[in-house]
Amino acid sequence: MTQDQLKQAVAQAAVDFILPKLDEKSVVGVGTGSTANFFIDALAQHKTAFDGAVASSEATAQRLKGHGIPVYELNSVSELEFYVDGADESDAHLNLIKGGGAALTREKIVAAVAKTFICIADASKLVPVLGSFPLPVEVIPMARSHVARQLVKLGGDPVYREGVVTDNGNVILDVFNLQITNPVELEAQINAIVGVVTNGLFAARPADLLLLGTAEGVKSLKAE
Ligand code: 5RP
Repeated sequence: MTQDQLKQAVAQAAVDFILPKLDEKSVVGVGTGSTANFFIDALAQHKTAFDGAVASSEATAQRLKGHGIPVYELNSVSELEFYVDGADESDAHLNLIKGGGAALTREKIVAAVAKTFICIADASKLVPVLGSFPLPVEVIPMARSHVARQLVKLGGDPVYREGVVTDNGNVILDVFNLQITNPVELEAQINAIVGVVTNGLFAARPADLLLLGTAEGVKSLKAE
């Protein structure tokens, strides 16, 4: 199976998982990226089974609307049962690195509100230790050099993601060469740097369920 077929399989598995729990009042939180796009396309086949969605990026909002799915502002939604999103890496505790698509801040906000965070990923994303994928950090533009110096002190090698402006008008530093053995601590340390909006570690609020696309089928993993 190709990586795209694995992504498609987990996207369909996520739809199959949430569909029986949705009703006409349900609003679904939707992530960003190629795996999330497969999820949106699969979810759209059942758009009469729920009310609408909250999007974690402008790109996701556009795709949802393209399918005729109503998109709500998070502030107007009182309850979000599910948030479904991809990841760049996951460990066995379902701590994640996210933000390859630069949508990490809105993704983290929607994940924080949702009761159940379902991560959908192909098997290549499951790793023993987080950090091979460079950790994205969203930064207020004027603080870029200051934040980069602080990230070096934490042992990383930050690289400015040229030409990328987030939906919030900020920039991204990708931090290379981190061996993330304590993701909860590192997430808090990086977020405490003045000028950081958020970082792509999802450890304070990890996923609740990982649907992993493998050659043997979709596996369901809960945090160890
Ligand atoms: C976007 C993300 C994505 O979930 C992550 O980059 C995975 O993307 P893909 O599903 O395309 O592999 O965090 O900010």
